[in-house]
Amino acid sequence: GLKKKEVNVLCLGLDNSGKTTIINQLKPPNTQAQEIVPTIGFNIEKFKSSSLSFTVFDMSGQSRYRNLWEHYYKESHAIIFVIDSSDKLRMVVAKEELDTLLNHEDIRSKRIPVLFFANKIDLQDAMSSVKVSQMLCLENIKDKPWHICASNAIKGEGLQEGLDWLQGKLN
Ligand code: GTP
Ligand code: MG
Repeated sequence: GLKKKEVNVLCLGLDNSGKTTIINQLKPPNTQAQEIVPTIGFNIEKFKSSSLSFTVFDMSGQSRYRNLWEHYYKESHAIIFVIDSSDKLRMVVAKEELDTLLNHEDIRSKRIPVLFFANKIDLQDAMSSVKVSQMLCLENIKDKPWHICASNAIKGEGLQEGLDWLQGKLN
């Protein structure tokens, strides 16, 4: 068949937000990991959608590895930024990391789509995606298309909606 367009996606967000769980759910069932462990450094994952061939850089969110993120900004065509909606204490840290990302010289000038997952909405004390978006001041992002989806990565809920949006922006 036709060769699909190849896109590099950078998956960012604090440790324990659910990045690897989300990426794992987007892979074909027969290639999914049974057990998810905290990412060391980063992992590269590949999967296809109807029109695109994705290469995802699943970065570790641990503070000691966050300095690796910027090395992949130049070559990325899209960003997936994952937030643990129940982690109120670290929402300000997530915002700091997001602001640092958006102000980076390799990202600032690019009109690349940013997909946010307000993840772990199944948890009792999770904030709504509207609340998460307010806390991160997403309405201030004027120079890039962005979208936020509430998700439960364990059940796979909300992920396809996000991927469909991203696909629409990358086609
Ligand atoms: P790092 O690799 O350390 O940056 O973390 P990560 O963002 O990749 O998080 P990971 O996918 O390893 O998930 C961390 C923990 O959260 C795991 O125990 C997951 O099972 C759990 N988790 C992920 N998504 C959800 C969700 O939607 N709901 C709930 N309840 N737990 C989730
Ligand atoms: Mg991980």
